[in-house]
Amino acid sequence: MNEIIKIRGNRKLNGEVTVSSCKNSAVAILPSVVLASEIVRLYDVPEIEDVKVLVKLLELLNVKVEESDDDELTIDPTRIANVDLLDEDVMKLRASYYFMGALLGRFRHVKMYSPGGCNLGPRPIDLHLKGFEALGATISQEGNIIELNAEELVGDDIYLDFASVGATINIMLAACFATGRTTIENAAKEPEIIDLSSMLNKMGAQIRGAGTSRITIDGVSRLKGCIHDIIPDRIEAGTYIIAAAACGQDVIIKNVIPQHIEALLSKLEDMGVKLMQGPDFVRVLESDDLKPVDIITQPFPGFATDLQQPLTALLTKANGDSHIEETIYLERFKHCAELNKMGANIEFETGNSHIHGPTPLKGTDIFATDLRCGASLVIAGLMAEGETNIHNAYHIYRGYDSIVDKLKALGADIQ
Ligand code: EPU
Repeated sequence: MNEIIKIRGNRKLNGEVTVSSCKNSAVAILPSVVLASEIVRLYDVPEIEDVKVLVKLLELLNVKVEESDDDELTIDPTRIANVDLLDEDVMKLRASYYFMGALLGRFRHVKMYSPGGCNLGPRPIDLHLKGFEALGATISQEGNIIELNAEELVGDDIYLDFASVGATINIMLAACFATGRTTIENAAKEPEIIDLSSMLNKMGAQIRGAGTSRITIDGVSRLKGCIHDIIPDRIEAGTYIIAAAACGQDVIIKNVIPQHIEALLSKLEDMGVKLMQGPDFVRVLESDDLKPVDIITQPFPGFATDLQQPLTALLTKANGDSHIEETIYLERFKHCAELNKMGANIEFETGNSHIHGPTPLKGTDIFATDLRCGASLVIAGLMAEGETNIHNAYHIYRGYDSIVDKLKALGADIQ
């Protein structure tokens, strides 16, 4: 179904917006629950489509999931059955691949479809598979079906050629029940990895070094239940901060860990955006005369690839030429063609975009092609004169909890 977000732009945003819990933590934490032998309670789980799909997949595995009014999930894996995940929901998102590591760890066997997710160009999983093999798994692939088997899993030293978020998490999950010590060298350092590791450690896992490039996992024989609060979503926070920089008069973004978005905040300051930081909020005041900046996307703590698309919308307002070098997903530029339809002047090719500002934007019909492209188009719609219709809005609902209501509360004309 083609869901449309309609925005009448060029209105000033004012007030407060509270950031929801982190999508990319939640989508790792939910599959990880299959490792537990007892009930796990998660607080403030974001209400997003990716979470709903993962809950359905847990239910296929006979894991009982109950939701209370205040976004708390009670997850009971005590009657789990390791059925093959040959369901088309697996292909709706990337994070379904965390069932590979988790089920391999728990049952030594997984059969499931390959994951889907946003189309950002090639997204191989060779590093995940290399990690599983190092722990003792054999892998067979037939078409879109992948099967992993292991008689036993034994800890090993695993070096990742690239600090992949997904591979780091998947290896951590598979290694929790492996015999002996697993070491991941050149591990990803994203906050979501620390969040998952702190939850698994509450359950009794022995994971050290999350947040550094060397993580060790000492295998244990059982994980118990726990209660866990998921960290705030740094990309959602960044998206609202950028929206406020583009159209805000006085906006406070709450439930933010500013240290998670230092690279963004520092670039916005370079642009001349007026920002104030507190321990758990960022306040953005009306900022004119924005300067252009150059960005290189990098793994954490570098500038997040997930924020370069939203930032591009703001850069169309800057007085001069900005350059973005995308090093994580070389094809992540589909938003640029849509922004150009609105009057932007952006040249883009594999790995690079050049934004020639300032160009006023005009509302028109545009298409979200992936989640953060959608976020970029929402910001552009807020900035634009006239009416913007963002087609294929379902991409946006995959990762932004209540985005329409949150922006309405800030004074946007959005439906
Ligand atoms: N890569 C490989 N081989 C692998 C794994 C990754 O070559 O086995 C490459 C990828 O092709 C890519 C790079 O390494 O060029 C980064 O991939 P990574 O594994 O770090 O990313 P991911 O786990 O697929 C997660 C987030 C993405 C986010 C990236 C980078 C989830 C579910 N997804 O993806 O989030 O962009 O890390 O930070 O956590 C989003 O939220 O919009 C999103 C796409």
